[in-house]
Amino acid sequence: MSKAIQAVRGMNDLLPDAVERWQRIEALARDVLHAYGYREIRLPVLEKSELFARSIGSLTDIVEKEMYSFEDRSGENLTLRPEGTAGCVRAGIENGFLHNQIQRLWYAGPMFRHERPQKGRYRQFHQIGVEAFGIETPDLDAELIVMCARLWRALGLDGISLQLNSLGTPASRAAYRSELVRYLEARRSVLDEDSLRRLDKNPLRILDSKNPAMQDVVTAAPSLSEHLDDASRAHFERLLDLLRRAGIEYTINPRLVRGLDYYTRTVFEWTTERLGAQSAVCAGGRYDGLVEQLGGKATPAAGFAIGMERLAELLAQQGDQNHEVHPQAYLVLLGADAEGEGLTLAERLRDAGVRVECNGGGGSLKTQLKRADRSRARHALLLGEDEVRTASVTVKDLRDGTQRSIAQSELVDLLLKKLDEE
Ligand code: HAM
Repeated sequence: MSKAIQAVRGMNDLLPDAVERWQRIEALARDVLHAYGYREIRLPVLEKSELFARSIGSLTDIVEKEMYSFEDRSGENLTLRPEGTAGCVRAGIENGFLHNQIQRLWYAGPMFRHERPQKGRYRQFHQIGVEAFGIETPDLDAELIVMCARLWRALGLDGISLQLNSLGTPASRAAYRSELVRYLEARRSVLDEDSLRRLDKNPLRILDSKNPAMQDVVTAAPSLSEHLDDASRAHFERLLDLLRRAGIEYTINPRLVRGLDYYTRTVFEWTTERLGAQSAVCAGGRYDGLVEQLGGKATPAAGFAIGMERLAELLAQQGDQNHEVHPQAYLVLLGADAEGEGLTLAERLRDAGVRVECNGGGGSLKTQLKRADRSRARHALLLGEDEVRTASVTVKDLRDGTQRSIAQSELVDLLLKKLDEE
């Protein structure tokens, strides 16, 4: 036997039990998003590599180390999208739907980052993302957060909390950055290897360090919030006020800086302590400069993305109920005539909205009843030579073992009644 091929590391198969949980999340998310006027957009998985360097930032971990980039057959440098915001902005500029209008959009799909795989961190993962364009005021930031909270409630999710920060404008951030670098330069000897590497390129990320040995130096570092420009401060205050009015609890985390360069002003993360190191279930913020940076007309914007694997894992840990979609009836077919008639009988049931699995590949009554059990259908419908001759069908309740024979013409009504009672 030749060796079986395995999946690419960090890229998971999603088996039917898991898919059914995801479908429930997706259906609830869709309802919540539609309730706020967001419309779905579907975007390519491949984009030109340059798009991500120009948006996420060429000095970020994602662009420097984590992208799946390659030259295609015509020599074009392409990348499997590591996130959805850049592509959404690119599509908005290209299709002309951003300028001078308000757009509320959402998307869902796979993203790719060549990170070290561990629980909650994969190389192919999935996001439900939201992007809103054309609203500069903090009511939009509040809407995004309230919308997340509604989704968590709809899902029955608990153990998740909101962290917030403001990164100010590019100018106020640059001023802060110089001061932070001065502070860190003076403490070079206590910086770890990671921080030394970030010092020149992306010093704000040092604040995000999880290394216990770095905590003292990080805690004593100058704070970004003291360097906010007045307009950003007012924006942030107003957002906090709106959240309080909406009854949303939050923690201000001055060290929340995010790993993508495009953010301005508000950034937020919904985090949990139940997933180990990969604590962010949903993250986002405002990115007022990105549309212009990518060649469009200046357009304020904000959004977030939910990590599906992490959200699904949290719900599974919580022991959410089973969302399995199984057939309601299993059609047992004994003999060639029954097989022939079974096909149309099953179609009639499906026309009436019943989920029916038909036995395939023959087999004895015993074998077929075993398969019926395994299908998890509640009802087995037995069609043998006698039933075909008398246009009847035997309906067996697989839970209590009772059975009765009825005319085929009565089957739809009877089954619908039984299903209704369940
Ligand atoms: P992000 O923080 O890079 O932001 O990713 C958002 C979420 O995706 C994370 O909070 C996490 O739940 C999930 N995630 C990220 N990387 C992985 C991974 N390797 N494995 C599993 N899950 C992962 C963004 O992507 C921004 N585009 C969000 C945004 C939209 N900001 C504005 N609009």
